[in-house]
Amino acid sequence: MVYTAQKHLKPKALSGISDEQIDQHWHLYEAYVKNTNEILEELGEAESGSHHWSELKRRLGFEFNGMALHEYYFGNLSAGSSLSPQSALGEALAERWPDIDAWHNDFAKTGAMRGIGWVILYHEPATGSLFNWWISDHEVNHPAGLNPILVMDVFEHAWMVDYGAGEKGKYIDAFLDNVAWEVVEQRFKDSLDGHVPARF
Ligand SMILES: [Fe+2]
Repeated sequence: MVYTAQKHLKPKALSGISDEQIDQHWHLYEAYVKNTNEILEELGEAESGSHHWSELKRRLGFEFNGMALHEYYFGNLSAGSSLSPQSALGEALAERWPDIDAWHNDFAKTGAMRGIGWVILYHEPATGSLFNWWISDHEVNHPAGLNPILVMDVFEHAWMVDYGAGEKGKYIDAFLDNVAWEVVEQRFKDSLDGHVPARF
């Protein structure tokens, strides 16, 4: 399996997140794709059980999830979309939290936590539960059996071109103004139907 950068996911003309910011971020994503391919190739050649092989196995989670999470992230960004309160997702958010604004506030506050990483709205198909989940490193703290519905990158590289240090809140507001809700709603429907939402 050779992975390729999913060019059709690259967002354009967002409001509050510049094309230059997206361009620089995209280069980082391409590096994750490249590194994932390199590790998979090296794993095929390394001696099973060797130290080198073991380190490649450990490294794969970082590079693979770095690739996959950026695909979910870029794929859930577009300008001019809005969440319908009558959609399946809108109703589920308002059921899990007091209302959609309360979910929005909790998601933003999770992103504003000190540190870098990811905030992911996860759906657990087995129970119907929804979580705004914090992840520090790509490969750590992902809940088993849950599906990513909305993914927000809160590494500083996601906003430092547009906003300076200490301005993460402005980026989070901009991110939430640019959610591709039709994509996010489709992911939720896929999860309700028992499928892992497609990354691309
Ligand atoms: Fe990123």
